[in-house]
Amino acid sequence: MKTQGNTIFITGGSAGIGLSIAKAFLHLQNTVIVCGRDEQKLAQAQKTYPDLHTLRCDVTSNDDCNYAFQKITSEHEGLNILVNNAGIQFNYNLYEANAAPERIQQEIDTNFSSLAKLTSLFLPALMKQPEAAVVNVSSATGIVPKRNAAVYSATKAAVHSFSSVLRRQLANSTVRVFELFPPVVDTAMTRDRAGNKLSPDFVAGQLIRGMQQDTYEIPVGRARLLFLINRISPALAAQMIQRQS
Ligand SMILES: NC(=O)c1ccc[n+]([C@@H]2O[C@H](COP(=O)([O-])OP(=O)(O)OC[C@H]3O[C@@H](n4cnc5c(N)ncnc54)[C@H](OP(=O)(O)O)[C@@H]3O)[C@@H](O)[C@H]2O)c1
Repeated sequence: MKTQGNTIFITGGSAGIGLSIAKAFLHLQNTVIVCGRDEQKLAQAQKTYPDLHTLRCDVTSNDDCNYAFQKITSEHEGLNILVNNAGIQFNYNLYEANAAPERIQQEIDTNFSSLAKLTSLFLPALMKQPEAAVVNVSSATGIVPKRNAAVYSATKAAVHSFSSVLRRQLANSTVRVFELFPPVVDTAMTRDRAGNKLSPDFVAGQLIRGMQQDTYEIPVGRARLLFLINRISPALAAQMIQRQS
C-alpha cells in the first residue's frame, strides 16, 4: 500500500516504537496524529516534531476513545490508517504478590480490549476510504510466550488471533490489516533489561517496508528466526525467547 499522503492515528505515539512510527510517517509526507495519557510526553513529542498532531487519550477509557474518534474524524476527514500501538508490560510470576488483579486487568485492557474496541469504532470511517489500513503492534511473545510475562504474552496472542480474523473479515474491503512483531526493542518498556535491543527507528522502518510490500505479518529482527524455529521446535523457540528477554 502507499505510505505517502495518508492520515494516520497512532495510539501510544508519544514515545518508544509509536513515536518512531510517527516520525517515519511524517518523513514520508503523511499527516500524523498521536495519543497518550501523559500531556508532558505529548508536548515534548510535538516540540520535537512540530508537524505532529497530539491528543490526550487513555485508550482504556471508552469516553476518551469516543472523544478521540469524534475529534479526529471531524478534523481529519481523510483518516485512513489506525495504528494500535499503545501497550504496557509487567514482568512477574503469577504466584507472586505483585500479580494483583488490577495489574492483570490493566494489561488486558491496554493491550487487547482497547485495541479491539478502537478498531471497531474506527472501521466504518476507514472503510469509506479508497485505501486504508489497521496496523496492530503485536509482539514475538504472542507466538512464543515468555515465562515471566504470562498475561502480556496472552494479550499479544489475542492480538494475533484478532488480526488474523479481522484480515479475513475485511478481505473484500479497502482496509488491509497489518501485524507487526517486534523482538526486544530499546524503549522505556525494556529499560530494566540487559542484552541486545533493536532501535525503535529500525522497527518503524521495517513496518514501512512491510506495508509498501503488502506483507501483512511483519516479524522484525530476531523475531523472524524465532518464528521459523518455532515451526520446527517449539521447545527450542521457548528457550530462545527466555534468553532474549
Ligand atoms: N519494547 C519492546 O521490546 C517491545 C517488543 C514487542 C512489542 N512491543 C509493543 O510495542 C508497543 C509499544 O511499546 P514501547 O516499547 O514503545 O513502549 P513505551 O516506550 O513504554 O511507549 C508506550 C506508549 O504507549 C502509551 N500508552 C501506554 N498506555 C496507554 C494508554 N492506556 N492509553 C494511551 N497511551 C498509552 C505511552 O504513553 P503514556 O504513558 O503517556 O500513556 C507511550 O506513548 C506496545 O504495544 C508493546 O507491547 C514492544
